[in-house]
Amino acid sequence: MTTRTRILTGITTTGTPHLGNYAGAIRPAIVASRDSNADSFYFLADYHALIKCDDPLRIQRSRQEIAATWLAGGLDVERVTFYRQSDIPEIPELTWLLTCVAAKGLLNRAHAYKASVDKNVEAGEDPDAGITMGLYSYPVLMAADILMFNAHKVPVGRDQIQHVEMARDIGQRFNHLFGQGKEFFTMPEALIEESVATLPGLDGRKMSKSYDNTIPLFTSAKDMKDAISRIVTDSKAPGEAKDPDNSHLFTLYQAFSTPAQAAEFRSELLHGLGWGEAKNRLFQLLDAELGEARERYHQLIARPSDLEDILRAGAVKARAVATPFLNELREAVGLRSFAAQVQVAATTKKKAAKAARFISFREDDGSFRFRLLSADGEQLLLSRNFADGKAAGAVTKQLQSGQELDLRTEGNAFGIWLDGACVADSPDFADASARDAAVDALRIALTPAQD
Ligand code: TRP
Repeated sequence: MTTRTRILTGITTTGTPHLGNYAGAIRPAIVASRDSNADSFYFLADYHALIKCDDPLRIQRSRQEIAATWLAGGLDVERVTFYRQSDIPEIPELTWLLTCVAAKGLLNRAHAYKASVDKNVEAGEDPDAGITMGLYSYPVLMAADILMFNAHKVPVGRDQIQHVEMARDIGQRFNHLFGQGKEFFTMPEALIEESVATLPGLDGRKMSKSYDNTIPLFTSAKDMKDAISRIVTDSKAPGEAKDPDNSHLFTLYQAFSTPAQAAEFRSELLHGLGWGEAKNRLFQLLDAELGEARERYHQLIARPSDLEDILRAGAVKARAVATPFLNELREAVGLRSFAAQVQVAATTKKKAAKAARFISFREDDGSFRFRLLSADGEQLLLSRNFADGKAAGAVTKQLQSGQELDLRTEGNAFGIWLDGACVADSPDFADASARDAAVDALRIALTPAQD
């Protein structure tokens, strides 16, 4: 079994990506996704967008623009799982399961919520004026995003660290309440890229939509040029030496140039390059670096149904993970099929809970599966999906027939094979000895009763 690091991050779809977003988040994420060790899950956090924005047109436009930006920037959707949060119904469902274990006191401490309350109090208003349940529950939805896919690393800005910590907190609580020794959720860690550029904006402050100082990314060459012409500089005339270290124009240049290009630009500024010409150089550089991607971006935007197909395919990939996992979680909290329960009761009576308990159940998609529980209720196996109940029944019969088991271990788990196909999997055990104990329990469970 591979042990790739699962990296997951979401992008709230309320705006149009600008140069700062590109250098600070998009570009590094795309580069990181190329690492052979990385299993990247990147998604459009469009449910989160609804918390901050009630303009449907803007939500729709932003989702398309952000999707096209990431793809144009070189994200390889064969390699990564790229999807829209709102295409994964398991996420809101998990959000509810987590809401039921999340401490209200924990959410009271969330920075974003607290800031809104403080603002209200300062203004002499009701503390909760204008605060929605969406804003209040924002961290629970984000915890579901992260825990649904058992992410190890979550690249985020500093303002989001607290949210990742809350995800750990909530996930741990769920594990404790329902895991019965099993850790359902992996504990995620926030990943803060120290080396990544925080780009200055036109006025030298951090480039941010809220400061209205951004340089557009892919809209058009002209827009980019116009913005660059508005970069604030000192008033030194052409011919006068400029100080590159106190010029955010130079900082911007450096974020996209090779070290050699930066050294040359620095020397030219020191030798009196005029600001007009310097802006021209910055534009040339950005246009060379981003021109092709801009072209791809406009092709993607022009074909929204292709974009739709790409994201739907991403959702299928993501749901292949989310659907079976959520079924396990539903079982864990007690949302189980009545039919399975009847069977448990019946078997228990007959065999005095001595032998294996097969519990069959049906998935939402109509397929049939079963679990095998040991005498003391530990899950030993979860079957693959079968098209009909007969096929599933035939497999459980064969397993109990006493024939030699084809059992193959994989890391701390094992699978059971019949006729060249894996028919059932064990859970992932904490270590090899827990796994081996489960193998023993399985052999005992499957030994035909001697009565
Ligand atoms: N809240 C994040 C932001 O505003 C976006 C986000 C939503 C996210 N869900 C996530 C980031 C899960 C990382 C993981 O930046």
